[in-house]
Amino acid sequence: MFPSPDTLYPLVSNMDRTCFLKNIITRSNIIVGDYTYYDDEVDVKNFEKNVLYHYDFLNDKLIIGKFCQIAAGVEFVMNGANHQMNAVTTFPFYTLEGWDMEPPKTSDLPLKGDTVIGNDVWIGQNAVILPGVHIGDGAIIGANSVVGRDINPYTIVVGNPAKILRKRFDDEMIELLLRFKWWDKSTDEINELIPLLTCSELDKVKEEIKKRVN
Ligand SMILES: CC(C)(COP(=O)(O)OP(=O)(O)OC[C@H]1O[C@@H](n2cnc3c(N)ncnc32)[C@H](O)[C@@H]1OP(=O)(O)O)[C@@H](O)C(=O)NCCC(=O)NCCS
Repeated sequence: MFPSPDTLYPLVSNMDRTCFLKNIITRSNIIVGDYTYYDDEVDVKNFEKNVLYHYDFLNDKLIIGKFCQIAAGVEFVMNGANHQMNAVTTFPFYTLEGWDMEPPKTSDLPLKGDTVIGNDVWIGQNAVILPGVHIGDGAIIGANSVVGRDINPYTIVVGNPAKILRKRFDDEMIELLLRFKWWDKSTDEINELIPLLTCSELDKVKEEIKKRVN
């Protein structure tokens, strides 16, 4: 059987708690790669409510790669969340009726740019990703973490503010995996690679990947 990224509910049991995320996205400023899934047993199709303060006029995008695993309650806080901070008050008079204030210049707002999540990133439940953060391929974000800074590939972070717990692999292996980019291969190739990608004998895996990237 061909694993189609266009399946809405890809669990073998077809339960509607897990969906391939790209299939439920309605906003043009959220871009999600194939096979990335979101899990939420209460209301999985309502993922976009977790992408907060995401206003078209600020033009910021949430870009998520392929094969990411996003747990229930994960929130992406976008740039519209941040009030002006370089003046006496942070009160956004311009958004409320009756006050004489023009919208601030965008240069006066603390805009941090797009939020970019790599490929094969696992984000634990209720983690919060703050505006403009870039998370590298293969990173793991612990449950309830608050991520305010960029995270390097294949790094595990936990806590608030999220701090590095450890790297997942040695530097040579990380460099190999970033060249290998298994997520960009065809589904047939990935199916063939599954024993390698899920093998815990990492020395053997490293040697095999070396052969394939050289
Ligand atoms: C991040 C995670 C993968 C780390 O797992 P691990 O490597 O087995 O980590 P350990 O349990 O050995 O913990 C190592 C240390 O990190 C701390 N820690 C682990 N996860 C943490 C978290 N989410 N927040 C804060 N601290 C955490 C532990 O308390 C421990 O601290 P210590 O060294 O001071 O005792 C895991 O803890 C986690 O958060 N998983 C997410 C689960 C989830 O949300 N799943 C959703 C369904 S897919």
